[in-house]
Amino acid sequence: MKLDRTRIKDALGAVCGQETISVKGWVRTVRRGKEVTFIALNDGSCFASIQIVLSPDMPGFEEVSGVGTGGCLAVRGTLVESPASGQRWEVQAREIQILGDSDAEYPLQKKRHSFEYLRTIAHLRPRSNTFSAVFRMRGVLSYAVHRFFHERGFLYVQTPIITANDCEGAGEMFRVTTLAAERPPLADGRIDWKQDFFAEKTGLTVSGQLQGELFAAAFSDIYTFGPTFRAENSNTSRHAAEFWMIEPEMAFADLAEDCRLAEDFLRYLVTYALENCAEDLAFFNERIEKGLIAKLESLAGAEFKTVTYTEAVRILQNSGEQFEFPVEWGLDLQSEHERYLTEKVLRGPVFVTDYPAGIKAFYMRLNEDERTVAAMDLLVPRVGEIIGGSQREERHDVLTARMREMGIAPESLWWYLDTRRWGSCPHAGFGLGFERFLMYVTGMENIRDVIPFPRTPGNARF
Ligand code: 4AD
Ligand code: MG
Repeated sequence: MKLDRTRIKDALGAVCGQETISVKGWVRTVRRGKEVTFIALNDGSCFASIQIVLSPDMPGFEEVSGVGTGGCLAVRGTLVESPASGQRWEVQAREIQILGDSDAEYPLQKKRHSFEYLRTIAHLRPRSNTFSAVFRMRGVLSYAVHRFFHERGFLYVQTPIITANDCEGAGEMFRVTTLAAERPPLADGRIDWKQDFFAEKTGLTVSGQLQGELFAAAFSDIYTFGPTFRAENSNTSRHAAEFWMIEPEMAFADLAEDCRLAEDFLRYLVTYALENCAEDLAFFNERIEKGLIAKLESLAGAEFKTVTYTEAVRILQNSGEQFEFPVEWGLDLQSEHERYLTEKVLRGPVFVTDYPAGIKAFYMRLNEDERTVAAMDLLVPRVGEIIGGSQREERHDVLTARMREMGIAPESLWWYLDTRRWGSCPHAGFGLGFERFLMYVTGMENIRDVIPFPRTPGNARF
């Protein structure tokens, strides 16, 4: 499709000046000089705005010079070399149409706003520098996710959002029902889910893994990339009630191969960002996290370290560090422990493997010691856990025994168990939290600031 306008990114990247060009976008700033007026116009195609120069002989000069910050303009003019520093081109305007004016109440006036305030205007924050850069990178890196798996021959599978199974078994599902909340039908004093829309108790998925496994048992290598929901009432900077997860699943793979895929994947995404998001990364490096680019470059080249859970516990116990939560074999690692390991001890991405069976999900493969499972978490500095994965239990008898131990009736997951009955094979996979990854790659410190419209306890307005 040929646009009747030039994207500002293309205008700024032009090789030589063109006769006439047309650009459209939103006003970031207006500066009235003695004779001319300068407008910084942004259309989101790149971080930079283009400078529009208005001289008094342009028709409508007075009216256009009075346009408010946030107004929308269509500009026709000549692309000329800019005498100003930091930009190669500017537009000498010949004709400007105000498509939508703005006024002094527009909240994104020139001064800098806190991220907390900008969350209250989530409908407008994509027009700010920081969020423009965040969401551009989010879009570009979503594409990179698909590209990585496509290049490796993985099939993209869309797993359901509404489901009856709680994959992680943590009881964090949001309920999906059409029953009347105030007076649901009862049977023996309990809610009769048989009368509900799906004739059973359903909710929003916490993970596409179980269905992903079914497809891996047919297509060998698959991945999912979709929204995931958890009614976890933890108001932290790293948890959202709705987040996006990427879950590859590989038949014929063990835990070591799973870790290798995770490492290659992360390195690919980071390299892709360095190569394709240089302008946005320069901004994050300057304003959000000093040294961000050097960190990403070193990740792109480094080998990831691996420690077992048992070693990690020993390291933490011998660290002499005072932690808020206890460190003891058999207890889960808290985020303070994870961050200590990745930030202070190993100083980079680290896989923690082979966790105690008792603290991990039912589907993870039991190790020969019969105390630990073939699980892995990838921890990175500042964010903590970014990936969780495992080799899956492919042995029908071991799996059903473990389900019973954990209070899961095998009959309730008969379809899942069928893959272990017919043509079972070793397989492994993981889940990357896309927002956690974006926090790592942009330096943004709160998950609410890397997802367009965050859902957290008490917040689902926009
Ligand atoms: O470790 P989790 O719970 O693993 C699973 O869901 C597995 N079914 C994945 C698999 O093996 N296919 O979640 C995976 C990742 C975490 O490492 C984290 O990055 C992210 O998902 N995550 C969250 N991100 C934001 N908000 C939350 N509430 C999250 N919970 C998990
Ligand atoms: Mg996890």
